[in-house]
Amino acid sequence: MLSAATESTKRPSLSTVYPTVDLNRCPYPFYELLRKERPVYEIPCNSGRPEFLLVDYDDLLYVSHHPELFTNDVLGFTLPSGDVVAPQGNGQSVVLNPPGYGLQHDTNPPGRANPDRVLAFTPFKPSRLRAYEPLIARVADELIDGFIHQGEADFTADFARPLPVVTICDVLGLSRDARPRMLFWAAGLASGNVRFYSADQIAVQGRKNAELQEFLDAELCARRDHPRDDVLSELIQLQVERDGHFDLGLLRHIAAFLALGGAKTSAHMLASMMALLLEYPDQMTKLAATPLRMEGFVEESLRLEAPIQHVTRLARVDTELHGVKIPAGSILYLSTGASNRDPKKFVRATGFDVERQNAREQVAFGIGLHFCLGAPLARLEGRIGMSRLLARLTDIKLVVGKSDLSNIESPHFRGPRRIRIAFRPTDLI
Ligand code: HEM
Repeated sequence: MLSAATESTKRPSLSTVYPTVDLNRCPYPFYELLRKERPVYEIPCNSGRPEFLLVDYDDLLYVSHHPELFTNDVLGFTLPSGDVVAPQGNGQSVVLNPPGYGLQHDTNPPGRANPDRVLAFTPFKPSRLRAYEPLIARVADELIDGFIHQGEADFTADFARPLPVVTICDVLGLSRDARPRMLFWAAGLASGNVRFYSADQIAVQGRKNAELQEFLDAELCARRDHPRDDVLSELIQLQVERDGHFDLGLLRHIAAFLALGGAKTSAHMLASMMALLLEYPDQMTKLAATPLRMEGFVEESLRLEAPIQHVTRLARVDTELHGVKIPAGSILYLSTGASNRDPKKFVRATGFDVERQNAREQVAFGIGLHFCLGAPLARLEGRIGMSRLLARLTDIKLVVGKSDLSNIESPHFRGPRRIRIAFRPTDLI
């Protein structure tokens, strides 16, 4: 990433309380230090339960593939001692995860896919995915039409943020009127452990959640009464067939995940893709000349700048990793950002190479039972969105004075704040 995003003002140390504002700006030197000194890092945070940050690729795989030891269900999980992880306690996610059920809930016995995943998979069936290529191309072209004649654009606000939101509105069958509200709910979306956020941020998130809930309830109830030919109606039909009754709470949870799961993540992916291309113009030239390389470019960008920097798990039992004791009830942050730069897995790991052979083994979407359901859609948004852009714009340059490439202020999400670009339209050449 360009220098503003990688500069860190303080030297990382082994007493750092992950995350910090400084680490949000650039966590990579800290990850490197941990990889060398302490790959299973107990965060000195005194939060009432032990918390660990893991930075090795193989450890992320190990923990993700052992749901009998480490659960994704950081809410409402009962420890062998009978303790319940308190809904207000550490590990509670700020958004999208009401306790009780849903996608984040692990099954019992562990190791089996959550049946609600089958419902949430409704928009991603291969038969539906085929229709998304032309849909995303149309959305991308409409957005590009909005700025192409100006010769300059705010890439983040005019392209990276709206593209995933408009796409998912169309995928779910939401009306055009919903787009501005969805963009508003997505903006400032917080995610991850409540320890990371101020009381004010949590309160704002709570209000947004309530508005989103009201909106989704109305959309779902309208389709229950009058089914349409769209994804939400099919989701309702499948849930009612499965359970024998209309479960608004479950449907709302799944719809919220689908509506917002990709809003920030895909926007950050697109923004990081552009930042990388601006930093490596030779790779931009290669891509414009050989669009077939676009798939490799998507994977390599996700590898180098994972839009979600860690996934969270909770230890079900007392266990040990690299000789470090992990008591039952500990929170584990599996760093996707660090794993994707593990030199044991990726040669020249900090370099950017759209032709990297094993780039698709990056773990930005997680891995195992909770692998991101929206990954196929996100990959399409990256490939088609950036292909349209490189087909229609040339001589793309960063407008330095009007850009801010520092990372957004979040321990969980990663992406540059603002990228303003100047360009020439190819159809004028
Ligand atoms: C570049 C874009 C995206 C990234 C980097 C991303 C990343 C992730 C990650 C890291 C997880 C958690 C995996 C774990 O806990 O092991 C996840 C889960 C999930 N994502 Fe995404 N995501 C993206 C786009 C999307 C989109 C577009 C959607 C839906 C439209 C989506 C829906 C979901 C859902 C439903 C889950 C929960 C899966 C489960 O717990 O079983 N994501 N995603």
